[in-house]
Amino acid sequence: MRLTTIAELRSFVRSRRQLGHRVGLVPTMGALHEGHLSLVKLSYEQCDTTVVSIFVNPTQFGPNEDFTLYPRTIDNDLSLLETHGNPAVFVPDAREMYPEGFNSSVHVGHVSAPFEGAVRPGHFDGVATVVLKLFHASQADVAFFGQKDYQQLCVIRKMVSDLNVPIDIVMGPTIREPDGLAMSSRNCYLSADDRCRAVVIPQSLAVAERMIGTENVRSADMIRQAVQDRIRAAGGMETDYIAVADPVTLQEIQVIESSSVILLAIRLGATRLIDNVLVFLE
Ligand code: PAJ
Repeated sequence: MRLTTIAELRSFVRSRRQLGHRVGLVPTMGALHEGHLSLVKLSYEQCDTTVVSIFVNPTQFGPNEDFTLYPRTIDNDLSLLETHGNPAVFVPDAREMYPEGFNSSVHVGHVSAPFEGAVRPGHFDGVATVVLKLFHASQADVAFFGQKDYQQLCVIRKMVSDLNVPIDIVMGPTIREPDGLAMSSRNCYLSADDRCRAVVIPQSLAVAERMIGTENVRSADMIRQAVQDRIRAAGGMETDYIAVADPVTLQEIQVIESSSVILLAIRLGATRLIDNVLVFLE
């Protein structure tokens, strides 16, 4: 079922909830791949009704970012979803989400400031605003987000907690290509050479994971240096950031004493890729 207005979405979800259904929401910007589909699958496992939203949200792109170039493959997305359980799909246009005169914004402090927030000012305000609108528009019981965009997940969790939004947030694991590169709608921008080089990104995170988990390295500087050395050795890549942080607050850590997350953003030509790994310590 294809829904295009918030009124249609609301009445569809209301009718399902009246049947006693637990309703899951999977927010996306389309150009669907196995990463998105894994979240849809999680929702099928945990919910009775699943809604996938597809909306390339203009407010989360900066003026010099790739909003107009962002891949839009709606026909392919719809047929992929049809063959993957055929969920309800919410495909609003920009006027439906941002009618004339729209003038509000959600800002989540602290957790949205570093890393992606520092490199992409205003990005997380755009994400938080559209996600809160999708939560209210759908009235879903649970929403699914990928670990791939770990800081985004932290921002959404903090928003839900700070603003008492009545929805559960579930994190799905990062789905990767066979060589380890995290699936992303932006991977299609990579040249053949850059695509080969990009494999060093997950490899360097695996090194960091091993240093912490097996070799008992506790210095965040040493971890960052080891990751940076590998990225530099592969050539052709610029580092935006490599950080070792607390997995909830995203504050940077100097000494790893408990679980942590290692996050990075790397530029290959005009393409920016992000990835992360969570390391759990007993
Ligand atoms: P988009 O980039 O389309 O991603 C939609 C969801 O898919 C996000 O929760 C993201 O973390 C998840 N995802 C992407 N690649 C993944 C992978 N390789 N493995 C697992 N999950 C993956 O993130 C957004 O859209 C937008 O910011 C949105 C939340 C929809 C707000 O506009």
